[in-house]
Amino acid sequence: MSRVYQPSDHVVEKSRLSSFDKYKEMHKKSLEDPETFWSEIANEFHWQTPYQPGNFLSYNFDVNKGDIFVKWLEGSVTNICFNLLDRNVRNGHGEKIAYYWEGNHPDDYSRITYRKLMDLVCQFANALRDSGVGKGDRVSIYMPMILETVVCMLACARIGAVHSIVFAGFSSDSLAERLSDCKAKVLVTADGAWRGEKLLILKNVCDEALEKAKTKYNHSVDLCIVVAHLNRVTACGKLPDDVKTLYKWHDRDIWWHDLVEGQSNICPPEWMDAEDPLFMLYTSGSTGKPKGVLHTTAGYLLYATATFRYVFDYQEKDIYWCTADVGWITGHTYVVYAPLANAATSVMFEGTPFFPDNDRYWSLVDKYNVTQFYTAPTAIRALTKFGDDYVKRHNMKSLRVLGSVGEPINPEAWLWYYNLVGSGRCSIVDTFWQTETGGHVLTSLPGATPMKPGAAGFPFFGVEPTLLDENGKVIEGPGEGYLVFSRPWPGIMRTLFGDHERYQKVYFSKFPGYYCTGDGARRDEDGFLWVTGRIDDMLNVSGHLMSTSEVESVLTEEPRVSEAAVVSKPHPIKGESLYCFVSLNDGAKFDASLVDALKKLVRSRIGAFAAPDVIQYAPGLPKTRSGKIMRRILRKVALGDTDIGDTSTLADPAVVDDLFKNRPK
Ligand code: PRX
Repeated sequence: MSRVYQPSDHVVEKSRLSSFDKYKEMHKKSLEDPETFWSEIANEFHWQTPYQPGNFLSYNFDVNKGDIFVKWLEGSVTNICFNLLDRNVRNGHGEKIAYYWEGNHPDDYSRITYRKLMDLVCQFANALRDSGVGKGDRVSIYMPMILETVVCMLACARIGAVHSIVFAGFSSDSLAERLSDCKAKVLVTADGAWRGEKLLILKNVCDEALEKAKTKYNHSVDLCIVVAHLNRVTACGKLPDDVKTLYKWHDRDIWWHDLVEGQSNICPPEWMDAEDPLFMLYTSGSTGKPKGVLHTTAGYLLYATATFRYVFDYQEKDIYWCTADVGWITGHTYVVYAPLANAATSVMFEGTPFFPDNDRYWSLVDKYNVTQFYTAPTAIRALTKFGDDYVKRHNMKSLRVLGSVGEPINPEAWLWYYNLVGSGRCSIVDTFWQTETGGHVLTSLPGATPMKPGAAGFPFFGVEPTLLDENGKVIEGPGEGYLVFSRPWPGIMRTLFGDHERYQKVYFSKFPGYYCTGDGARRDEDGFLWVTGRIDDMLNVSGHLMSTSEVESVLTEEPRVSEAAVVSKPHPIKGESLYCFVSLNDGAKFDASLVDALKKLVRSRIGAFAAPDVIQYAPGLPKTRSGKIMRRILRKVALGDTDIGDTSTLADPAVVDDLFKNRPK
């Protein structure tokens, strides 16, 4: 049985929720009377038209009863950007620092107040409006971790445009597909950025993507706005005298600084209905084609605000830092919307944990006196391997809450984080959530809930988790099953952009009446929830979700490959890694050059983070008599574990011996 860690006095003393009983009472209230619970948060915000009592929440989670829908605060009218900036400035936070920006190189840093951020957002919003962007238009963003990225997101929110951020590590193919799928009117990017000593020319990826969007998907984007970033930061490697020789310039391109030149810093917001779209964000789907998860206005604002406040226990003078890239949902909710909604001061970091040395994170914790630090298990595992001295060099006594997100955190990493980084006196919040959930749904709460290394913990307010067995029967008490939710919380996604059918099918059809996460979970005898991982064909590599079929379809694009099967193999740092089996067409030869070509192909089609670790030759794949690939066996081959269990359904048992023989040394 795992040890239970109680919140330390250091945390409890300051906590706004200082006992487990208080949490339980509040959680109960949030389920019994959602209107009272959420309207308290809603009342903090500005509503151009307040919600009408009786219209607080309506929904249908049961596909047998008609279309799935979720509506919170219907009829109310507001603007998120106004609430994050103008409202905070009016409440006296104009001179408060919104972000300490820290560049990739330690010599590059700046800060921005709420008032200044509001000015920049208004100017850029006016520039977008002048460029013909209006309510409901999609703006794609392919940017590094710089302040303009936040400005751009909020400017979209201000004028009612829907931003669609594509993580700036995706390839031009992936960007082209996403630009075309959402029919983006504008693309916003930067000339380039440094990641450690690596130079990324983002503008070139965008140019390729815009070309591919036109030729492959027949979608043209007429405006590409480019931030000139490279010239204003310290070079971390070799650069030509004139950075402009690194990329080409086209008629559709315009510099960000030229576009905003002369724009007013006053920009009336577009008043949005509660259920108007705020943003969309693509996430991998098990059929290969990415899903455009759509979040709306009022509910997302309430949920982001509440989770940030309680999960990080953010207090007035705290300095909060989330290391996630804005290209993922964690960056959307917990780098941008939630901290600003709470008038928080955050650190925004452009670089990597390893540059200029492996203690960059810890030195920044001390530089800014960070109180809440939120990162991913893969980063923690990568840092543990450099030894404890890098951490011990730093004081880090400012820390109170340590967050983890993206995948289950293994107990060793948890203990290292807890004992070494947090000196045994911080609460760890292991936050389970998804692009689709908008904000944390299972977590511990600092000061309130006990912790167990590796357990996500308890439901957040308004969230009612259920475990179901394969037949849809509810598992009461301790047990393991499908993790589903029986009612909506305000931040849950509303649809998949342009494909409501797929939304209903993927998330609501397996168990009518429930939102199905696609993850398994276990409830232990003390009521803690442990997320056990995906139960569909999805892989989680360094916290990035991808589908096996997405990678398989890329591998089979190579003319020499006849068939491919991808499974996950546990990896000490990345959590999971891609282990690929390929069968070849007659006459094709399996050699190092093919392996290299396949790895390159995956990088170029999806992105570097999806690069396979192993590609193995498979003369045949283990299949059932009906032709279904038996991935269970492939996972055993990947592990080198010959104890493959029952093979009675296998069409040709001889292929398995061949696979073990062909394992790369
Ligand atoms: O499998 C779960 C895992 O990441 C998936 C969601 O990935 P994505 O939509 O990219 O969002 C990641 C950031 C919120 C989940 O279905 N996951 C995320 N956080 C945890 C987790 N698994 C276990 N514990 C977590 N804390």
